[in-house]
Amino acid sequence: MKKTQKQNRYQRIYKQLSELLPETNDTLARMSSVIAVLHNKMDHFFWTGYYFLKDGRLIVGPYQGSVACQELEKGKGVCWTGIERQESVIVPDVEQFPGHIACDSRSKSEIVVPVRNNKDTIIGVLDIDSKEHNAFDSTDEQELSRIIRLIYEL
Ligand code: SME
Repeated sequence: MKKTQKQNRYQRIYKQLSELLPETNDTLARMSSVIAVLHNKMDHFFWTGYYFLKDGRLIVGPYQGSVACQELEKGKGVCWTGIERQESVIVPDVEQFPGHIACDSRSKSEIVVPVRNNKDTIIGVLDIDSKEHNAFDSTDEQELSRIIRLIYEL
């Protein structure tokens, strides 16, 4: 997808979520709505969801796409790397990422963006997989970070 097309689509998603999320102050409902809108508006998102930190473990949260691993082995894979580095991780080819956890072998590239609560504490990650190689770039990283901040800001 071209950069401008991608940015336009993210802008529409941002606007839609800015109007939708204030309908409730329930965090889980807001988080679920973010996933539903992203997954249905971005054709190349094959799996879209969260992994949440719970007592030092990473457990799956609301998601759309094929059935995923419920818990991720500690210290391994893209999601844990995002938690440990406390920053987003873009993986153009999952097979080249040492320790990548394949919940579905059709995933070819992936992006992980840390989710921070209103106290700026990382509570988990937003994780998106694509069936295409090289699907994610800095535009996705910036726009997805902006979108997930809406959950606590609005
Ligand atoms: N690939 C992830 C695991 C989660 S699935 O992509 C849904 C990882 O390596 O952490």
